Amino acid sequence: MRKVGITGVGEYLPPRVLTNADLEKMVDTSDEWITTRTGIKERRIACANEATSDLALKAAKEALADARLNPEELDLIIVATITPDMQFPSVASIVQNALRAKTAVAFDVSAACAGFIYALSIAQQFISLGTYRNALVIGAEKLSSVTDWQDRNTCVLFGDGAGACVLKEVKTGGIISTYLGCDGSNMELLNLPAGGSRLPASQVTVEARQHFLKMQGNELFKIAVRTMTEAAEKVLKQAGMDFSDVDMIIPHQANARIIMAVGKRLGLSGDKIFLNIEKYGNMSSASTATALVEAVKEGRVKKGDIVLLDSFGAGLVWGACVIEW
Ligand code: ACO
Repeated sequence: MRKVGITGVGEYLPPRVLTNADLEKMVDTSDEWITTRTGIKERRIACANEATSDLALKAAKEALADARLNPEELDLIIVATITPDMQFPSVASIVQNALRAKTAVAFDVSAACAGFIYALSIAQQFISLGTYRNALVIGAEKLSSVTDWQDRNTCVLFGDGAGACVLKEVKTGGIISTYLGCDGSNMELLNLPAGGSRLPASQVTVEARQHFLKMQGNELFKIAVRTMTEAAEKVLKQAGMDFSDVDMIIPHQANARIIMAVGKRLGLSGDKIFLNIEKYGNMSSASTATALVEAVKEGRVKKGDIVLLDSFGAGLVWGACVIEW
């Protein structure tokens, strides 16, 4: 089996910033509540004429340039997203065309906040088996398009953005182990009810605001802490490592309190936990992706470091990944 590593990273965050003060004018909330309950200070919001593929494309171009890889040489494109431009074709197909990556196979993965780790794991299998030489993996979301801006329980949490990485065979380091999980029995805790084949768009679904995401945050909070802790323990065990080996944990950025609770259970000190939630909120599949990209760009992750990705979201799904950088 070939070793597979990340050889280039990129991100795109739309320039428009929506602050907690802005939200105070929209719903009955306060900067104090949002900051203390979630750690979020602001989030990015894409333009009306920007779709998820536009964000994905910008992150992809930066990652390809960083990896010094021509789009024509790409074998595989996977986009993790729950906010595709449209039901079909996939965002990955749209990105493939925009990049003129004519020979790349392309598809989307729907695994919410764990989507980026699911996609990394799939790409790794293809390359390690020798089916493909390289892959572009993108986590991209325009969550503002499915956020109910009248619901204070959810609208303060989410934002838009994209993170991307290029994977190739490497001589040393790379992805050491991945661990994925799913529990469909709790799907009602977080979903977007209408717009699919169960409840196609109609006047009734629009009036009932069923085209916006619904979340029982309180229940999810407890499950998130437990599940992310277990996923981290399992993936490290698979890697033959323990927490003292980890240089940086890069968790999904849903809530700073969830992240700190997971860190505490794992016995990781604050300087080993990467946080950028205060700037971007929860961007689902784009959160772990952009957090990884920013940790690398800021020099918090250096060559030879052991990085632990850990994520959890709607499905319910979760994933963790150990990488030697
Ligand atoms: N401003 C002010 N008050 C608010 C707001 C707000 N924006 N939102 C809720 N409240 C109120 C509630 O109405 C409630 O009031 P009440 O006690 O009078 O009924 C009170 O604050 C407490 O509400 P809780 O929901 O219990 O607050 P909690 O501390 O649990 O925080 C939160 C809510 C931030 C959503 C948290 O539960 C959370 O982060 N959950 C996990 C989310 C998650 O991990 N999701 C999965 C990944 S996302 C994905 O896959 C796309």
